[in-house]
Amino acid sequence: MILIVDFGSQYNQLIARRVRAQRVFCQIVPPTITKQEIINAAPNGIILSGGPASIYDQKSPKIDPALFSMGIPVLGICYGMQFMVSALGGKVNRSKKREYGFAQFSARKTENIFADITKPTQCWMSHGDSVKTLPRGFVITGATDNTPKAAVAHIKKRLFGVQFHPEVEHTPLGKKILRRFLFDVCDCKRNWTMRSFAENAIADIQDQLGPDKVILGLSGGVDSSVTALLLHRAVGKQLTCIFVDNGLLRLNEAQKLKQTLTHKLKIKIRFVSAKRKFLTALSGVTDPETKRKIIGNVFMKVFEAEAQKIKGVSFLAQGTLYPDVIESISAFGGPTAVIKSHHNVGGLPRKMKLKLVEPLRYLFKDEVRKLGKALGLSDELIWRQPFPGPGLGIRVVGEITAKRLTILREADDILLAEIKAAGLYKKLWQSFAVLLPFKSVGVMGDKRTYEHILALRAVTSSDAMTADWARLPQPLLARISNRIINEVNGINRVVYDISSKPPGTIEWE
Ligand code: XMP
Repeated sequence: MILIVDFGSQYNQLIARRVRAQRVFCQIVPPTITKQEIINAAPNGIILSGGPASIYDQKSPKIDPALFSMGIPVLGICYGMQFMVSALGGKVNRSKKREYGFAQFSARKTENIFADITKPTQCWMSHGDSVKTLPRGFVITGATDNTPKAAVAHIKKRLFGVQFHPEVEHTPLGKKILRRFLFDVCDCKRNWTMRSFAENAIADIQDQLGPDKVILGLSGGVDSSVTALLLHRAVGKQLTCIFVDNGLLRLNEAQKLKQTLTHKLKIKIRFVSAKRKFLTALSGVTDPETKRKIIGNVFMKVFEAEAQKIKGVSFLAQGTLYPDVIESISAFGGPTAVIKSHHNVGGLPRKMKLKLVEPLRYLFKDEVRKLGKALGLSDELIWRQPFPGPGLGIRVVGEITAKRLTILREADDILLAEIKAAGLYKKLWQSFAVLLPFKSVGVMGDKRTYEHILALRAVTSSDAMTADWARLPQPLLARISNRIINEVNGINRVVYDISSKPPGTIEWE
């Protein structure tokens, strides 16, 4: 395995994904990691990430320099290289001007990590400081026009540094550099597969739980479904899942989940119908944040009441993913535990004295999907687009009523069916309908109508932090609009949202 030391780079997760894409397991760790912890982890190699700090900043992150004499290969990227150089007695130039963007990199010696860099190649730079003098035993291994010491190394000790970012797409041969580091320098094996992960995770869960009972809140999304499957494989009947129907789900969603998880996969699920409770609590509420709070609070109460009914439970399982975990330990993020707001059961473990099981806490989303597939989950569940915890509650703009929910649900179902039929469902980050809180005039047959307006929203995105409105084909938009206006009672106008995020958000509320 590889340890990635988090010096605060925005590209940390990208480094981890690149390593895992080579089927090598890696973990992101804070710079506060001790020598003993490194020994315990027994990594094949260590990557020091970049970071926004200058090594001259008083508060710049530091790692115990003992790391450099442990015989473990190290690759320092950007700040990581500067830290290594300075910790080992070299000098780093403080500069006021940042070099940012493309540069042409030439390797001096086409060996080790640069074995594939036989010609000058493009690389991506983003740095202020640069290496000025080398520590003893180091040599220059590559340069760009602006940065004569763009790559350095202590070949014998297998310590390598690059000023540019091999992990980003803008460094086209970066993957090859990382691959050489992993396999030639660190002697890693390609053994990180979802099948081997599942086997280990199942054994770990069995160890952790023993004969104890565990509960899990199911949302219908891929994370909680995969968690359920893994736990089910590990401890079978000791697992009870709770699914709360809040009345804010899409058409037939609860039934579909029941079909897959209960009937096909034989997982024990308690379905709690709490539609009325949610609707009553939401009656007359129009403010989006108030809606979210109410939905979160009612969810928590309903979930807790149901959980209390199951006797002798000692564990709560959660589908926490790696990005949430990293955020919570990151050098700059502080030690705040991140719990998904929509599954607002954060207080439950303490209240019910439950211990947490989070079997997906080392996985990225795409890995969870692969794991789901390896465990036999249907493609439909695996590739489900993200769906917000407050559900249709934040897509019925304004007041939520049973009638307005029914209208939205029917329209949303048509939209999704057409998107799927067009083969676009997987390509879009999200596609959904939003019911607006006012009516407009129309004409149907010979009659004047005065009905609801529906907005369609479809976006492309890779992480929901930014998103672009999808350029859906016009014939598809025409078909969706036509079908919705004809088939859904209560809608006479359909509009398409052409705002990107930022400045818009994906959801309307
Ligand atoms: P926005 O609207 O902020 O959404 O661009 C970004 C992503 O987050 C989802 N979302 C939520 N998920 N509870 C959730 O679980 C919420 O309150 C919530 N609000 C937005 C949204 O669907 C998109 O994927």
